[in-house]
Amino acid sequence: MIASAKDAGLSLRDQDVADESSDVILADPRAGSEESYLVARLTEIQERYHYLPHNALVLLSEILNLPLSQIYAVATFYNAFSLKPRGAHLIRVCMGTACHVRGAPQICQRLESKLGIHAGETTRDRRVTLETVNCLGACALGPIAVVDNEYTGQMDIAKADRLLKNLSRAHNGKEPA
Ligand code: FES
Repeated sequence: MIASAKDAGLSLRDQDVADESSDVILADPRAGSEESYLVARLTEIQERYHYLPHNALVLLSEILNLPLSQIYAVATFYNAFSLKPRGAHLIRVCMGTACHVRGAPQICQRLESKLGIHAGETTRDRRVTLETVNCLGACALGPIAVVDNEYTGQMDIAKADRLLKNLSRAHNGKEPA
């Protein structure tokens, strides 16, 4: 299968992605076309690259013998998957109504300002992606921010600053104070 990716004329960098992705795709010998199997493979690819590179999806399509359109249909159905490169850390700010009226826009603006990006973007060093989401189902705790699946409720500006500080320390291998 790697050979066919090569045959497809992928660049060296693309081929690197394909080579690594093939390990992930073939990691589980229980081949099958069930959606759960496909979701598991997509999850593994996303964990490795923090998003779903097109070349990895092409390779997955070849290996599983599934139409690429079917792969993309699943990849775009689940919010957890991203077709755009994401940073090593993902910050999501809830902008649902309950969080919005409690100050979520100010939290988001603070994070945007500190990170130097807008919501939906990734820092240039690929360290952090900032996204907004709709209701996370925990409105009573709003406004809510989620960092790498860890929820923080009743967010305010001070908490937003602390969150970034802790994230920076964690990323640099130091335990948060
Ligand atoms: S509106 Fe933010 S958790 Fe519901």
